[in-house]
Amino acid sequence: MDELEQLRRDAAECRACPLWQTGTQTVFGEGTASAQVVFVGEQPGDQEDKQGRPFVGPAGRVLDEALELAGIDRSATYVTNAVKHFKWTARGKRRIHAKPNWSEIAACNPWLQSELEAIEPAVVVCLGATAAQALLGKQFRVTKQRGTWVESDLAPHVTATIHPSSILRQRTDDERHKEMAGFVADLRLVATVLEKAS
Ligand code: URA
Repeated sequence: MDELEQLRRDAAECRACPLWQTGTQTVFGEGTASAQVVFVGEQPGDQEDKQGRPFVGPAGRVLDEALELAGIDRSATYVTNAVKHFKWTARGKRRIHAKPNWSEIAACNPWLQSELEAIEPAVVVCLGATAAQALLGKQFRVTKQRGTWVESDLAPHVTATIHPSSILRQRTDDERHKEMAGFVADLRLVATVLEKAS
């Protein structure tokens, strides 16, 4: 069995924080072990929790579209999350996303580190503040530092950009287009580095 598959099986039994009690299942990373780029999100959402796969819900569709526009083939990437269980609160029958706290992020961090050690990607991209702060430190500010390359032991090239769900939260089409254009521009920088690395 390869290293990532072993990690996935071990993570399925994880009880390192209380979120396993309310999540349906551990949503481990997905993609090829030979990926040159790893994308790290915050935590699985409702759809991801049900399907057991990262970024397959509405935010995943935005990510897919942006990757395509930037010329990055998702099937050649590895996509994962800083926290691998869905944290939610009930609103009527709906399960609403709740932000993971620092101890939940810290409890899940060894899985993320192990994924990165198994893959050894050329590029790591943090999607949103939770992933960026989990990997680059609490002082990291996506609003100020997005789209810049950060010195890190995680990989030769490390950067952060917005989370795709922030595009969905914009109120007008104009705002959505603007946010999407910025997201795609950040991903194009990643594509440029990937072309050179391959
Ligand atoms: N948001 C995330 O951060 N990760 C997912 O897998 C889905 C939505």
